[in-house]
Amino acid sequence: MTPRKIIIDTDPGQDDAAAIMLALASPEIDVLAITAVAGNVPLKLTSLNARIVTEICGRPDTPVFAGAEAPLRRKLVTAEHVHGKTGLDGVEIFEPAQPLEQAHAVDFIIETLLREPEGTVTLCALGPLTNIAMAFERAPEIVARVEQIVLMGGGYFEGGNITPSAEFNIYVDPEAAQIVFASGVPLTMMPLDVTHKVLTTRSRVARLRANGNRASTEMASMLEFFERFDEEKYGTDGGPLHDPTVIAWLIEPDLFTGRRCNVEIETGSELTLGATVVDWWKVTGRPENALVIGDVDADRFFDLLIERLERL
Ligand code: RIB
Ligand code: CA
Repeated sequence: MTPRKIIIDTDPGQDDAAAIMLALASPEIDVLAITAVAGNVPLKLTSLNARIVTEICGRPDTPVFAGAEAPLRRKLVTAEHVHGKTGLDGVEIFEPAQPLEQAHAVDFIIETLLREPEGTVTLCALGPLTNIAMAFERAPEIVARVEQIVLMGGGYFEGGNITPSAEFNIYVDPEAAQIVFASGVPLTMMPLDVTHKVLTTRSRVARLRANGNRASTEMASMLEFFERFDEEKYGTDGGPLHDPTVIAWLIEPDLFTGRRCNVEIETGSELTLGATVVDWWKVTGRPENALVIGDVDADRFFDLLIERLERL
């Protein structure tokens, strides 16, 4: 079976690192490149962290491009309180052998979508949607060429995590999210409603560490740092492992269930800025622009993640 070509747009972040590792470990996926965006930590760190993760995976050949340093129209909001000062706290930071690509991430996204046959490249968005929105604004002709966008972002029944009503990726750049959700590109959305069901429990992290290879042990150390904030906040064993749900969907979609809904983004109200208004009960009659995922088989999700990371 021909591997699916993807571009991972990301703001590493320990959970982004887990998603990148799952993608690089999986034969069903061909990672064309990683495009970094400012989010969890500033762009200088997210682009460095992406290169660190590819080197830890033994895949320094994976091109990494730096993209937007700030949201389209707002000041950057970061999340060091969750991810630590480096964005990858839990592991030693080092200067990877592989240099950052020279081109801007947005130019790479545009050029790749124009070059590759129409409908053959999937965009996996794990951070604020600034790079993708900028590419769509600068080159509208690429919109129809995207196979689909699978994104981690938003929340509905679960509310928000950076404010009571907004999830971080959408909150950081709500105008970019509005552009992407209104673009007409086929969208699959992994909101907090599903990512809060995949918790990095002690036993799951222990199973990952028991793989014994570098990627698994480094990932386990990242998770042991990353989970502390959410364990404290939610009183759970482990924290939500948000971003790898995007990659797991591409590999084993039957791990998940959801429904097509209309999703709109709040960009006006300061109180609910970045809220994803999901018409789950179809009361508005507005176009169903996203497949909203609501549930997951968490045990099988971690079986997949742990089994695949052992291959790196
Ligand atoms: O709200 C969780 C999301 O925000 C995840 O993608 C995390 O990495 C941060 O980017
Ligand atoms: Ca992320």
